[in-house]
Amino acid sequence: MGMKDMLLELRDKALQDLEAAVDPQQLQELKVKYLGRKGPMTEILRGMGKIPAEERPKIGEMVNQVKQVLEQTLKDRAEILREEALKAKLDHEKVDITLPGRKPGIGHLHPLTLTAREIKRIFMHMGFDVVEGPEIDNDYYNFEALNLPKDHPARDMQDTFYITENYLLRTQTSGVQARTMQAHEPNTPIRMISPGAVYRNDYDATHSPMFHQVEGLVVDRNISLADLKGTLELFCREMFGDDVKIRLRPSYFPFTEPSCEVDISCVICGGKGCNVCKHSGWLEILGAGEVHPNVLRMSGYDPSLMNGYAFGMGVERIAMLKYGIDDLRLFFENDLRFIRQFR
Ligand code: PHE
Repeated sequence: MGMKDMLLELRDKALQDLEAAVDPQQLQELKVKYLGRKGPMTEILRGMGKIPAEERPKIGEMVNQVKQVLEQTLKDRAEILREEALKAKLDHEKVDITLPGRKPGIGHLHPLTLTAREIKRIFMHMGFDVVEGPEIDNDYYNFEALNLPKDHPARDMQDTFYITENYLLRTQTSGVQARTMQAHEPNTPIRMISPGAVYRNDYDATHSPMFHQVEGLVVDRNISLADLKGTLELFCREMFGDDVKIRLRPSYFPFTEPSCEVDISCVICGGKGCNVCKHSGWLEILGAGEVHPNVLRMSGYDPSLMNGYAFGMGVERIAMLKYGIDDLRLFFENDLRFIRQFR
């Protein structure tokens, strides 16, 4: 075969290969194979010396032509592949405007916030003010002003987080009783509730180191336990439904005398007895009592003129009973499967 035919055959083979290439990498490999330093074209040019002198210019020109054709084809093919890739990408990424849109996630209130708001709503309708107190308080307001002097054994009922000897995380909202009386002229009538976080060193299915209470305080002339009972009965009916009954059981708190614990008829079994009420038919929901004369006196009120009642309820406990929740820790674990049920 003459040099000319060899070149033509080489050209046709190369063109065929280039047309068949499907990606840039294959093209690059073909470029190296046919036009590279170790490729046939280079070899032919190198062997020019062996060709008779009169044929050299013609062969040289052909070699250049073939090289040019191959280079041009390589470029064209690369361009076509680029366009095909782009088209495939665009087809693939096409926006389907018929698909339904994505809704932005809208949050909602936490079950404890809902419960606290409901408690506030009910008492505000009965004319109670809403007052706030500090979560970091001192020994005086958390204990002493509530008739709990230093070394009083009842302090042990509330396992306290102390910050210094004098400052602590309040264990109850009752300190707001004294703060509120002291913020008024002596013997001014008071009707307030005070919601907020409180802290005790406790942790199990019914206790959390941080939980919430709503304190209540009414001070006026001739306030009796009947007023307390009527008010709480109305509250419980609003909160748990018209069928709910309440009962007062004698108890002890240093800042109330007499003191009581208030139960509601079991919201699960209606009072017949079940696991939740431990077959008693009753559920404890709050502590209360007549304000102790010492508490009034220490905050500048005259116990021979004024008297009143106070109560304190746990927001988590109310929420657990209202919604039938058996583990208080669920409120603070932030598991959306739990939280979303209160939308
Ligand atoms: N502070 C009491 C507690 O945390 C509850 C209470 C408040 C009792 C007001 C009587 C009067 O247990």
